[in-house]
Amino acid sequence: MSTSLLLLLDLALGGACAGAWAGATVLAARTRTRQSTPAAALVGVAMLLVLAQAGVAALLAGQAWGLVQEKLVFAVPLQLAVGIAVAVVTLPVLLGRVRPRPTVVLTALVAASASAVAGVLARVLIGYPLTAVPAIALLLLVAVTTWLTAALLRRDRRQVVGAGALAGLLVVASTGYAWLSDIASPGAIAAHAHAATSPASAEGTVSVADLRTPADAPGRLRHFDLTARQQDITSPGGREFRAQTFGAVGGPELRVEVGELVEVTLLNEDIEDGVTLHWHGYDVPNGEDGVAGATQEAVLPGESFTYRFVADEPGTYWYHTHQSSADGIRRGLFGTLVVLPVGGIEEQVDVTVPLHTFGSTVWLGASDLPEVRRVMAGPSARLRLVNTDQIPHRFLLSGAEYRVAAVDGREIAGGAPVIDRSVRVPAGGRVDLVFTVPETGVVLTTEASSAASLAIAPQDVDPSEIEVVDRGELDLLSYGERGDLQLPASMTDEEIVLDRQPRFLGGLPANAYTVNGAVFPHIENIEVTEGQVVRLTVANRNWETHPMHLHGHHVLVLSRNGVPATGAPLWLDTFDVQPGEVWQVMLVADNPGIWMDHCHNLDHADEGMMMALTYRGVTTPYDHTGISG
Ligand code: C2O
Ligand code: CU
Repeated sequence: MSTSLLLLLDLALGGACAGAWAGATVLAARTRTRQSTPAAALVGVAMLLVLAQAGVAALLAGQAWGLVQEKLVFAVPLQLAVGIAVAVVTLPVLLGRVRPRPTVVLTALVAASASAVAGVLARVLIGYPLTAVPAIALLLLVAVTTWLTAALLRRDRRQVVGAGALAGLLVVASTGYAWLSDIASPGAIAAHAHAATSPASAEGTVSVADLRTPADAPGRLRHFDLTARQQDITSPGGREFRAQTFGAVGGPELRVEVGELVEVTLLNEDIEDGVTLHWHGYDVPNGEDGVAGATQEAVLPGESFTYRFVADEPGTYWYHTHQSSADGIRRGLFGTLVVLPVGGIEEQVDVTVPLHTFGSTVWLGASDLPEVRRVMAGPSARLRLVNTDQIPHRFLLSGAEYRVAAVDGREIAGGAPVIDRSVRVPAGGRVDLVFTVPETGVVLTTEASSAASLAIAPQDVDPSEIEVVDRGELDLLSYGERGDLQLPASMTDEEIVLDRQPRFLGGLPANAYTVNGAVFPHIENIEVTEGQVVRLTVANRNWETHPMHLHGHHVLVLSRNGVPATGAPLWLDTFDVQPGEVWQVMLVADNPGIWMDHCHNLDHADEGMMMALTYRGVTTPYDHTGISG
């Protein structure tokens, strides 16, 4: 059974258990706790459901501790302890062995129901990690509910009022505490900002503002100007859209060569919220990373900012604004970046294909309609697939066998040719496919659109005749050759548990996307020292896919769901953690700075799923409140 089904089953068992206790309570109340075989049977069922929860938790524990901690240390033991005690007290009465004792029996059954409910709340409200304070609050809630029931049954007015008031107070106090800690705490990144301004700690530290590429860095200068502005566009298919662009739909493609010093001046013409340029997947020095509020101030209308970095990592990348980015990128504030090796690539045809949804139309490259590039048969070709959307997309190349040559800008060694297999590209990810253009041509399609496609075919070929069949998705974890990959002997461990829970976001209640139970900016940073190697375990308890993206670094995939990666070493900057999945990746801390680590479904990032990887000794003078995805 898959991990997400187990998670769902666990929740269902918890709910059913609460239902069984409640049912037993009602039946027992009806017979005024005289003999009731059905009520006794429900007590038995409830106990079995507790055992079933323990079993499911044990299965999940093998996947990741973060999936089960609150179940194993709280929900199950609590229900087991209370359940056994309640069964001992109530069963003899319900089976008619001893005379009816309504107050004791009903109070006990309510206590058991309340502990089952507390178990469910521990899962959905608190999740991982369950710490002492919320655990005590839940225990108090069980105790107060039990007390209230007893008082009601004895018709003790004063105690009813007392218990009721205490229950109310408990709920108000926990909610209030959660709200206050959201609005009052400065957040993890601001703590660094503070360190930067306090003279006592200035010694031995470096500010992100100084982690820049010098203007006189070696390399042939390549200068680009990008102007961000509002732009009304009409797609080739006739759809009108109010876009925001860096000068062109899908952005001007920046093509540079290893050895060049890339210099890009960003000018904001009229984007109210401000813009920045983040070099997605290109591991620039921290001060060039383009994160408003962490590495620079947002560039407001009329302002400009110049980025510089040395082209030294060939591959396919993209750039996008990092200010109000969910909205900005959706509207078009992005473009592609291609870094060519010295002397160019081997392939004669080289096409970059960003997939982007503008409004309700999907564009593949420059069009939302079928497009054909006419080439002679025979040359080798490289398609650079870039997913600039918020959700994963599947691409299918039909008509020729192809090889996956690179993923996220890193070469894949020894990939065997495949045919009629689709590739899944996470939000923000890139995959390069290489193939030889056959006489009959090829066509690239995507599940995201039945209209847009890109054919590469000789003059006389009708691309609509190319047969399109998908024989399943290619799994990159087992694709290509491993080589002799040496892993460092020791790594420190860090854990990221993704979930969706009710939280306060900027003072307002929301069904937020959480990391380790918290939302940005309250998620505890991962703190590293330069040179440290970290094994990061990322577990998804939620029912949605989270494309996790770390700035400034590529991570090496070690395993997924406990199964080690066996293909060519996969160095990714964005990896899709699907529902119930547990990924282990290795991170080498070799690029000092304050780096965002977030879900690249930017709506999720906006609703909490964003944190930082910080290097000891690096500070920022910028204000985190300026960060908006
Ligand atoms: Cu492409 Cu912080 O993201
Ligand atoms: Cu997400």
